[in-house]
Amino acid sequence: MLILLILSISSAEGQGGGGGVIDVVAKFGAKANEKTDLSKPLLDAWKEACASTSPAKSVIPKGIYFLSTATLDGPCKAPIELQVQGTLKAPADPGAFKEPKWIAFNRIENSKLSGGGVFDGQGTVAYKREDCEKHDYCDSLPINLRFDFLTNAMIQGITTKDSKQFHVNVLGCKNITFEHFIISAPGDSPNIDGIHIGRSDGVNVLNTEIKTGDDCVSIGDGSKNLVINGVTCGPGHGISIGSPGLFKNEELVDGVTVKNCTLTNTSNGVRIKSWPGAELGTCSNIHFEDITMTNVSSPIIIDQKYCPWNKCKINEESKVKLSNISFKNIHGTSALPEAVKIICSATLSCENVELADIEITLSGTNGPTVSQCSNVKPKVSGKQNPVACSAPIAAKPTPVA
Ligand SMILES: *[C@@H]1O[C@H](CO)[C@@H](O)[C@H](O)[C@H]1NC(C)=O
Ligand SMILES: *[C@@H]1O[C@H](CO)[C@@H](O)[C@H](O)[C@H]1NC(C)=O
Ligand SMILES: *[C@@H]1O[C@H](CO)[C@@H](O)[C@H](O)[C@H]1NC(C)=O
Ligand SMILES: *[C@@H]1O[C@H](CO)[C@@H](O)[C@H](O)[C@H]1NC(C)=O
Ligand SMILES: *[C@@H]1O[C@H](CO)[C@@H](O)[C@H](O)[C@H]1NC(C)=O
Repeated sequence: MLILLILSISSAEGQGGGGGVIDVVAKFGAKANEKTDLSKPLLDAWKEACASTSPAKSVIPKGIYFLSTATLDGPCKAPIELQVQGTLKAPADPGAFKEPKWIAFNRIENSKLSGGGVFDGQGTVAYKREDCEKHDYCDSLPINLRFDFLTNAMIQGITTKDSKQFHVNVLGCKNITFEHFIISAPGDSPNIDGIHIGRSDGVNVLNTEIKTGDDCVSIGDGSKNLVINGVTCGPGHGISIGSPGLFKNEELVDGVTVKNCTLTNTSNGVRIKSWPGAELGTCSNIHFEDITMTNVSSPIIIDQKYCPWNKCKINEESKVKLSNISFKNIHGTSALPEAVKIICSATLSCENVELADIEITLSGTNGPTVSQCSNVKPKVSGKQNPVACSAPIAAKPTPVA
């Protein structure tokens, strides 16, 4: 009776286009028993919603489901929404995956992912098995959520937990917004970035809480017009731009605003990094503003000598040009004395760097911090604690991954 009722409501809502609300349990027999694979019911519901000529929504009701893997493809005929109210669990065994992704959204216009649900990648087993902390990148492990080539997408009120690799990868998207998004993984989960963004234009990460083992947000090549606002990060490696300079033909990073964010106990705060070496690149118009740091090891850092895992020749200079970069109203505490480090390339130097209203003291002791600069003459205004560029730099800065 109940099922019939839901179906009749659905078909009434979808009149004329076959859209409306599609319940994966009621219509496609999905089972919230943590065993039965949700893959087929989910794909069936997605196919139906995607073919609808009027806006359609698929719903995964509350409950705990097992999902082996799913790629949700567009293009769709009308705006589409996936509402996940339940918890989806990935196979714990990394060997169960043929490709390095768990759930992917691919080539869709006007989509929404919502519902308050949880994507649990069950990653803690995988980190140990693959010995990831010994590598720079455990890239055969699945990413929890991939968003590939989406236009006008909204991801709202969703949690991703214990991914086996990056939690979220955004590639080739235009106008995509994450809002009230939650990312959670242990601080010692190796190489597990929160949100990685590349080759995308117009990405907004708003009011988002990120706890993970690597960068909270990492911004790779070809990123334009990004806004990161209201992000709390920690544990994690902070908010990072880069690192270009390692591969040929990288696109530029242009236009990133990081505002109103709080970083707690992270290894870096706000960072731009590039590899020493032969490859060209540019990063420009990058603004960090109104940021609170609590016990952050390197709160403000430009590092053009970024060279972990011995992947480059540290004596070479970076050929990535950095310009129009500002740090404004950044305050709080640093876990190490070196609160400000602006290490630029000797061959290119950094152009038009601004430091305004910086107030960072040493965590716990309220003691002094230092500011180190190399190949840069920043424009300075407002309060400066530590005094800008007042300390000598170490001969060989050793960057943190
Ligand atoms: C961006 O996407 C949102 C949906 O997330 C939509 O409401 C908005 O109109 C889009 N903006 C533009 C300029 O297309
Ligand atoms: C600043 O971030 C917090 C979340 O940390 C959010 O609630 C608030 O709305 C943001 N303020 C502005 C002005 O964007
Ligand atoms: C920061 O890390 C330390 C050591 O791991 C921990 O004891 C402390 O509770 C953390 N602080 C916050 C605010 O998370
Ligand atoms: C500050 O961070 C350091 C390094 O991460 C950690 O060892 C220490 O416990 C933290 N202190 C506090 C007060 O959280
Ligand atoms: C740097 O900013 C100035 C002034 O806003 C602008 O004219 C210039 O084009 C910017 N440089 C780059 C490389 O975007």
